[in-house]
Amino acid sequence: MRAIAPSRRYYRSPMTRSYDQDEALAVLDWLQAMGVDAAVGETPHDWLARANDPPGSGFAFPSRDLAAPPASKPAVLGAPAASRPLPTRPIRGTGGETARPRATTPLGANEAETGARRIARAANTLIELETALVDFDGCGLKSTATKLCFYRGATQADVMFIGEAPGRDEDLAGKPFVGRAGQLLDKMLAAIGLSEANVHITNIVYWRPPGNRTPTPQEALSCRPFLERQIELVAPKMLVAVGGSAAKEVLGATEGIMRLRGKWRDVTVGDRKIPAIATLHPAYLLRTPAAKQLAWMDLLQIKSKL
Ligand code: URA
Repeated sequence: MRAIAPSRRYYRSPMTRSYDQDEALAVLDWLQAMGVDAAVGETPHDWLARANDPPGSGFAFPSRDLAAPPASKPAVLGAPAASRPLPTRPIRGTGGETARPRATTPLGANEAETGARRIARAANTLIELETALVDFDGCGLKSTATKLCFYRGATQADVMFIGEAPGRDEDLAGKPFVGRAGQLLDKMLAAIGLSEANVHITNIVYWRPPGNRTPTPQEALSCRPFLERQIELVAPKMLVAVGGSAAKEVLGATEGIMRLRGKWRDVTVGDRKIPAIATLHPAYLLRTPAAKQLAWMDLLQIKSKL
C-alpha cells in the first residue's frame, strides 16, 4: 500500500485533521484490515460526506424487486436509438429446475428500454460499447475502481469466458484476468489449444469491487445490459462462466458451482440461444489444486464442443 512517506512530519487529510506518523501508520493498518489494498487516486474522497449522492445513485434500478437507492439524476443517459435488433430479454438459463425466477431482472419491454439497456443497445461495436461504459455512471463500483476493465482477447471469438469481477491487478491494468488467476486461466486455455488470440475474456461487472468482495446483485444487474450487448457483438458459439458468481449470473441458476459446473445449458441472449457451461475459478484452483481434475474435465467438454 502506498501513501505515507516514512519521514516524521505531519500529514493533513482534507477530510479530517493532521496525523503524526504513528497515527498515520495506525490509520493505514486499520484501512488494510478493512480490506483496502490499493490507492485508487491521488486525492482522498470522503464518501461519507456524499451520503446524499452515493456512488451509482444516478441509475434507476429497473426491477421493482430490488431496493433501489433514490435516484438524484435522471436514469436515462440519452443515447441514440439502436440501429439493429437488440435483446429484449437478459441472459436466461434453460436448465429446468435450475432456472430461477429473475427477481433482479429488467425483463419487461418498457423497462428494457431504459437506462443501461438503452445505452448498451446503441453500441454497434465493442469500441462504442466501451465508450458507453466509460460514460456510464449506473454502477457504483466505478466510483472506487481505478480503471474500466472491459475485455481482453479477440473481438470475435467462438468461446467467451466470463468471470466474476476484476481484482487488484486487473483494476490497475484495465484488463480482465491478468493477475495470478488470469495466468492460470491462460494455462488452462493453452491446455486445450486456445489463447487470447481466439477467445474473448470478460467479467460480469466491469469495475473492481472494493476489497475484492463479490459483486452485489444490483451491481451485476447494472452491468448486465452491457454484458448482453458484448455477447451479441462478439457472437461466440459458446459461453464459459468462470466461478460461482459468474455461473449464477450467466446460467440464471441458484445452485453452487459444484452442482452447476460441467453441464451444458442453453442461455438466451437477444434472439440467440447459446450453449453455456460453468467451470471452477482459477483463483479457487490455486487454493485447491486437487480440484484441477474437475476443471480439466470441464475443459475437455469445451474442447470437444469446439
Ligand atoms: N477474477 C475474475 O473473476 N476476473 C478477473 O478479471 C480476475 C480475477
